[in-house]
Amino acid sequence: MDITIKRKSETFVAEISGLDLSTPLSDADWSMLHRAYLDHKVLIFHDQHLDPSAMARFGERFGEISPHTVRQYRHEDIEGITILSNRIEMGRPKGIRDAGSHWHSDYSYRAIPANVTILYSLETPDEGGDTIVCDMQAAWETLPDATRARLDGLQQQLQYRWCADRDHPESRWRLLNADEQLETPPVTHPVVRTHPETGAKSLYVFSGLTSGVQRILDIPDDESQSLLKTIFTHCEDPRFHYRYKWGGPGDIVLWDNRCTMHHATTDRLPPDKPRTLWRINTIGDKPV
Ligand code: SIN
Repeated sequence: MDITIKRKSETFVAEISGLDLSTPLSDADWSMLHRAYLDHKVLIFHDQHLDPSAMARFGERFGEISPHTVRQYRHEDIEGITILSNRIEMGRPKGIRDAGSHWHSDYSYRAIPANVTILYSLETPDEGGDTIVCDMQAAWETLPDATRARLDGLQQQLQYRWCADRDHPESRWRLLNADEQLETPPVTHPVVRTHPETGAKSLYVFSGLTSGVQRILDIPDDESQSLLKTIFTHCEDPRFHYRYKWGGPGDIVLWDNRCTMHHATTDRLPPDKPRTLWRINTIGDKPV
């Protein structure tokens, strides 16, 4: 079967057909897929049939798989797979009900963040639970020159689920056990990141709670707040966004966290609309 690549949005996202991801990829297919990943940032596949080992084998093509920080939702056979689900089974959540209905980039709170995120759907609702992805390279490139000049070279401090309100139910102080808190100290990353493979610059600062941005460093606090607000408002523009409506079991959506951010919409998904996905993240390079 011929492999086809169809662009879905002006600056990013492509749908690929003609590839069976349940079997090991030939070097030629991997090289094509990897090129498409760099060119389009987000790739969509349909009609895939993966078991946990096949999912892990596919993930390993992108780098070393890194299990989720919250241990409770790791897959029982392959810990690198995180279960995202709003199902309750035997009185217990089957997975993370909402992995982030706010703008974030996976593991940005770690010294070495994620490069790829791969989501594979096992069941999806007819309505709701869409995933939105934002092109952070396009967002960077469309900022006014003066703002880009001010931001380039600045560093930010962030910490997993840091929140000004320690009592927030999803803050690190409420959600993480003692080990998980110790494993997630504050880290410093550039506000503007250069992609290690394409050389392109992207914004690399995210408004969501999981990213836990505390401040931009070495500038007055009020300027830090004002610059963060400018960035977050700019990135809200729908021209940078692509909204994916899950089509049922067997969809795969993957994205490059080094030049995108994403936003789940599962906080508004009612429990009678089950949605279960597997997620894999691999880790890459220290952002520069
Ligand atoms: C995530 O934020 O990693 C998952 C996105 C989703 O569940 O739509």
